[in-house]
Amino acid sequence: MRSGPVDTSDASTAVPWRQRLHVRLAVWVALCLGAISVVLLLWYEHTLGRERDAHLQWQGIGLAKYIAQRQTAPFIDAQGNAHPTQLANSAMYISMIHPSLEAYLIDRQGRILQHTLGEEKPRLVQVDLSSVAPLLLDNVPPLPVFGDDPRNPGAPNLVSIAPLPDATNVQGYLYLILNGQQARQQQQRSATQRHQQSVWPVLALVLGFATVLIVSVQTRVTRRLRIMAQELSQFRQPESGPNPPHGRARDEIDVVSQAAETLRERVSQQFTRLEDAERLRRELVSNVSHDLHTPLTSIQGYIETLLLRGSELPAEAREQYLRTCLQHCRSLGRRVAELFELSKLESGQTVLQAEPFCLAELINDLLQNYTIAAQSRGVTLHLADNADRQAQVLADIGLIERVLQNLIDNALRHTPSGGRVELMVSAAGSAVHVQVRDNGHGIPSADLPHIFERYWTKPAPDVDAASAQSTGLGLAIARRILELHGSRIEVRSAPQSGTEFHFGLPAALHA
Ligand SMILES: Nc1ncnc2c1ncn2[C@@H]1O[C@H](COP(=O)(O)OP(=O)(O)O)[C@@H](O)[C@H]1O
Ligand SMILES: [Mg+2]
Repeated sequence: MRSGPVDTSDASTAVPWRQRLHVRLAVWVALCLGAISVVLLLWYEHTLGRERDAHLQWQGIGLAKYIAQRQTAPFIDAQGNAHPTQLANSAMYISMIHPSLEAYLIDRQGRILQHTLGEEKPRLVQVDLSSVAPLLLDNVPPLPVFGDDPRNPGAPNLVSIAPLPDATNVQGYLYLILNGQQARQQQQRSATQRHQQSVWPVLALVLGFATVLIVSVQTRVTRRLRIMAQELSQFRQPESGPNPPHGRARDEIDVVSQAAETLRERVSQQFTRLEDAERLRRELVSNVSHDLHTPLTSIQGYIETLLLRGSELPAEAREQYLRTCLQHCRSLGRRVAELFELSKLESGQTVLQAEPFCLAELINDLLQNYTIAAQSRGVTLHLADNADRQAQVLADIGLIERVLQNLIDNALRHTPSGGRVELMVSAAGSAVHVQVRDNGHGIPSADLPHIFERYWTKPAPDVDAASAQSTGLGLAIARRILELHGSRIEVRSAPQSGTEFHFGLPAALHA
C-alpha cells in the first residue's frame, strides 16, 4: 500500500483537462444555473411588468369617463352624431392630463370615428370591443385588461373606455390608450438601461462566483476518484504502451473502469498461467516418474546383480553391466535436462537475450561437433555452398544453438547411411532464413501434425526403440524457442525422399 500524498498528474495526463470530470460537471452546472437564472429573470420581469400595468390601469381606469363628463359639448350626442371638432379641441386638455394618453372616438361596433393623433393615421380602422367589455361593467375587473392599440396592431395596450353620451343611451365610446407610444418607448429605454447597468453584470458576477465555487467543490470531490484512477492505472501492463488497450479515456470514470478491466484481464491471465504451470508441473512429475522408472529399475537390477554375484561373474560381463548402467544414466540425464528445459521455456522463466551474431559461424562450429557422429553413420553433413556466410541475425545465440542441435540430431538419426544432411542460410529483407534438410526416411503425412507435440516420438525404421534414446521433446523445445523469437518453425517432408525444417530469424541491422 502507498502512503502519503498521491501525485495525480499521471492520471490527469491520461485525460485532457477539458474532459476531466470536475471541469465537465462544472460546465454543465454553470450552464444549468445560467439557463435557470435567465428563465427566473424573464419571469420576474414579466410579473413586474404586469403589476406595473395593473397599477397604471387602476390609476387611469376612470379617465375616459372623467374627460367625457367635463366637455362643454358632448363628443357624441343622444342621436348618435359625433361632434366634428370637439375631440380635436380637447386634444390639448387630454395631453395635459397625461402626455402619453391617446384618445379615439369609436362607434358601437368599435369603428374609429376620430382620434387625437393629428396628421398620423391609426393603422387599425376598428377595435375589438369584446376584449375591453369588462371595463364597461360597474365593478372594476381584475387588472390589467388589454385592448387593441390602433397605432400598433398586434400589441394590445392598457385602455380606459367610457360610453357616450352616457351609459343609458350608448351611441359610441371614448377609447383611451393609457400607455401611449411615447411612454412605451421611454419604458423600453429605461428597461434596456437597467439591464445593461445592473441586471446582466450582477448576473454574470453571481454566475462566475457560483462556477468558481462549484469547480473548487467538485475538484475536491473528484480528487479521490482521480487518485483511485491513478493507482489503478499502475496495473496497466507496460507492454500495452501509452495508449490504453480499451480505447481513449473520456474522463476519470473511464480511466477507473479501463484500469479495472485491465486488472481483471491481468488477474485472469495470471490464473491461466498458474493453471498452465500447475498442469505442466503435474505432467512433468507424471512423465518423469514414468520415464525414469524403467531405466532406474534396470540400473538397480544390474547393480544388485553386481553386488550379489559380482565375484562370480567374468570380468567382461561385469564391465558390460557397468557400461549398460552408464548408458542408462546418460540417457536419464539427457531426459531430465530436456524436461526441465521445456518446462522452463513453457512457464515463461526463460528470458531471451538477443544479440547480433553470424549464423553461418554458429552452424560451422556446431557441424564440427557432429563430424564424428555423422561419419560413424556414413552421412554427409555440411553447410550448403551457396549459403549466405555473412548473414547476421539478432537472436539468443544459446537458444538458437539448441534449436539447430535438435534439428541436426534428428536429421542424422533419421537419415540412413549414404545419405546427406545439408544446412542452408539465406537472407531476405529483414529476415534470415534457415533450412535443415535431409534425404532420409521422411515423415508420413499422418505423423506430420504431431511431431511438434510434447513426448511424441517415433524412432527411425532402422533403429530399435530401446536404443533410440528419444524423448519426444526436441521439436517441442525448438518450436517454443522460435516462438520466443517471434518466429515459427515449418516442416516439409515426404516418406523416403527426406525432410526439410525451415524457420526465419530477424536480421541484425548493420551499423
Ligand atoms: N529429420 C527427420 N526425419 C524424420 N523424422 C523426423 C525428423 N525430425 C523429427 N522427426 C520425427 O519427429 C519425432 C519427434 O522429434 P523430437 O521432438 O526431436 O523427438 P525425438 O527426437 O526425441 O524423438 C521424431 O521421433 C521423429 O519421428
Ligand atoms: Mg529430437
